[in-house]
Amino acid sequence: MKRKVMVLTGGGDCPGLNAVIRAIVKRASQEDNWEVLGCIDSFNGVLKTPLELVTLDLNSVSGILVKGGTILGTTNKGGPFHYPIKNSDGSWSSIDRSEEMIKTIKDLGIEAVINIGGDGSQRISKALYDRGLNIIGVPKTIDNDLSATDFTFGFQTAVQTVTEDIDKLVTTASSHNRVFIMEVMGRDAGWIALHSAIAGGADVCIIPEMPYNIEKIKDKIEKRYINGRGFCIIVVAEGAYSQSKGKIYQESKEIGYYNEKLGGIGNILMNELIDAGVKHDIRLTVLGHVQRGGTPIAYDRILASEFGVKAFEMVLEKKFGQMVVYRHPEINSVSFDKAIKEPHLVEANSRLVKTAMGLGIEFGN
Ligand code: F6P
Repeated sequence: MKRKVMVLTGGGDCPGLNAVIRAIVKRASQEDNWEVLGCIDSFNGVLKTPLELVTLDLNSVSGILVKGGTILGTTNKGGPFHYPIKNSDGSWSSIDRSEEMIKTIKDLGIEAVINIGGDGSQRISKALYDRGLNIIGVPKTIDNDLSATDFTFGFQTAVQTVTEDIDKLVTTASSHNRVFIMEVMGRDAGWIALHSAIAGGADVCIIPEMPYNIEKIKDKIEKRYINGRGFCIIVVAEGAYSQSKGKIYQESKEIGYYNEKLGGIGNILMNELIDAGVKHDIRLTVLGHVQRGGTPIAYDRILASEFGVKAFEMVLEKKFGQMVVYRHPEINSVSFDKAIKEPHLVEANSRLVKTAMGLGIEFGN
């Protein structure tokens, strides 16, 4: 009988997930007698009847290093603790299927589970570990909002995507003497906005950690024009908000989706600037899920590969209840408690913010 480890990807996808899966399989193949099973669509593969599990061998991971998304599929809805069920009257509610799921995994002879996911997924990992599952976490997210690790894979690819698109906006903005607002992802963290604003040479960077005052942004825009000629690039994080109005988000109507839906601040900002008297043409680009797609850049392929190798070695060492982390210069691990304790947010007095200010980037706060 082969020893079994189960791998799954949870939450929103990001570039580099396949590189982690591949690294786990490659490292496992160096040990005698291990079988890697992939669970389809996060934990749904072991919650469904019939089960949706696939055997992952060197053949099945060949060529996936460069592929975006995840070959296992993923979801950021439901989960073992809030599994959606349809009631007889057509309405939806949720039930806790965690105990039943842990029993299924153990009955299958699976010794360990590797959950590749962001903060929400690692909260699930911790709760499952507390209920007796041998589980290890691998941090992923384009948002880079996990405090225990210097970087999550997927983040640098998202920054690269945004930066390349800012470069494109600069050419059209300067040709038309326009103000361009680029709304980017990141949830409550301004990392994507901050990094891409610096890399793309933006004039204004608006992030959730530093609520804005519209007059300061207006002043910056005016400084970018001489006799009506000029242009201005504003990068705004989806979770940003004004000092006067506070945070905006919507409740999702999708079944089993419990995240706050962000997005829309770019449009609000554009209207506020017009109301504040900005007379230059303003155009808005909302980059959206483009930031999560496509092939991972080399940095993310390397980090993801390091995380995958480490995760399997943690299985061998029985280091359960821990999440892999990158703390320069080491790849290490921390307990789930530490991993999910607090979010990784931009600090106003941090090195990168100071660099941005030194470049004349206006935060509008
Ligand atoms: O957490 C990653 C992320 O892309 C956020 O930046 C964004 O707010 C959210 O996921 C979007 O989620 P969904 O794919 O459910 O629209």
